[in-house]
Amino acid sequence: MLLSAAKMQTTNTRKICVVGLGYVGLPLAVALGQKQEVFGFDISTARISELKNNFDSRGETSAEDIKKARLVLDSDPNIIRQADFIIVAVPTPIDKNNQPDITLLLQACRLVGQNMQPGAIVVYESTVYPGCTERDCVPILAQESRLQYIKDFKVGYSPERINPGDKLHTVDKIVKIVSACDQESLKIITAVYGMIIRAGLHQAPSIIVAEAAKIIENTQRDINIALMNELKMIFDKASIDWQEVIAAASTKWNFMPFTPGLVGGHCIGVDPYYLAAEAKRLGHDPEVILSGRKINDQMAIYEAQRLLKYMQTKGVPANARLLILGGTFKPNVADTRNSKVADVIGILKKQGYQVNICEPFVNDNLFDCVNVSPEKIKDYAFVIKAVRHDIFKDIKADYEIIYN
Ligand SMILES: NC(=O)c1ccc[n+]([C@@H]2O[C@H](COP(=O)([O-])OP(=O)(O)OC[C@H]3O[C@@H](n4cnc5c(N)ncnc54)[C@H](O)[C@@H]3O)[C@@H](O)[C@H]2O)c1
Repeated sequence: MLLSAAKMQTTNTRKICVVGLGYVGLPLAVALGQKQEVFGFDISTARISELKNNFDSRGETSAEDIKKARLVLDSDPNIIRQADFIIVAVPTPIDKNNQPDITLLLQACRLVGQNMQPGAIVVYESTVYPGCTERDCVPILAQESRLQYIKDFKVGYSPERINPGDKLHTVDKIVKIVSACDQESLKIITAVYGMIIRAGLHQAPSIIVAEAAKIIENTQRDINIALMNELKMIFDKASIDWQEVIAAASTKWNFMPFTPGLVGGHCIGVDPYYLAAEAKRLGHDPEVILSGRKINDQMAIYEAQRLLKYMQTKGVPANARLLILGGTFKPNVADTRNSKVADVIGILKKQGYQVNICEPFVNDNLFDCVNVSPEKIKDYAFVIKAVRHDIFKDIKADYEIIYN
């Protein structure tokens, strides 16, 4: 059921603590902090210290917005005790075998369990496989707190849908799914999020439905991009321009104009593995999901090889100094997690090329490359655009790697 902003009861009496102040947790804490005092806990002392100085190194939240929010920040988990409504937004990556790695999530559960009071509601925002919250998180909360689930504490799940770098779809403007272990806590969770979400709330009938909804949103996107990547490979072989094909096909009312691209980051390239792991646990072989992942994971190698061929035809010498424009996983963000540009650079370096990078969003040497300033671009003989940052808009590169 979708509750419009007008229909939501938004009176909240709960004291809120956000656990994990990253891409997801900080904007949420800042939005809630405009309405009431909000406690924020992050295990990283460096993160707490920069936020106390009103600085977000992820480049998503302005100093002004952080300053305006009534935040009480600490890297000591004791701060969680101040709250009776705890939101958990810690990373849920995959390991080197592409299996869900919920170590940080379970660690957060232990810290929350050790510090939560009877009557607390814990809402998870981290992306997980369906079933994770009640099967894996709740027992740890119960064990560490010595409290009984439902009787002494409640749990909910509200997946995050923000899109870092997107200044239009900010947290308040995205319909938010909320779910809970019972109706009483669902009402409270709805009231808390109702304070800040203007786009409306969708009350899912259960926690597992909300978990599954989030994971299929990203899995569907991954598969759609994988299909376009495969189509691009076919069109490349046939020397057909894929952009012209998409432009033509898009004139049909129900064609979905996805584009091929390098899929990196912390969500689209990761979340399908969470669903695949759960499918396997249930005895189902997730063929389509894993085929899509395989295609998208190999796309950087495919595109690097095309680039090498192109440079050969253009007579770029094997030891030439190349400049890559952009190293983040997508345009206009500072996030380099699982960026496929790193794979492309690795292949170029193996071939003997000297590769430098120009990544103005990140302030260090990226992927063991010298990170040069945009003014230095003209010093390079061959320039490759790998990320379509707005600030690169007017720069004509010698080659462009496809992107989303
Ligand atoms: N980044 C996105 O665009 C996005 C969008 C939707 C959902 N998500 C999901 O949200 C979750 C968080 O992702 P993120 O991008 O915000 O991660 P992030 O790495 O930006 O931030 C996570 C923060 O949690 C902290 N942390 C780690 N372990 C902790 C612990 N035990 N206790 C307290 N703090 C801890 C880290 O220090 C870090 O500051 C993930 O499950 C992700 O899949 C992310």
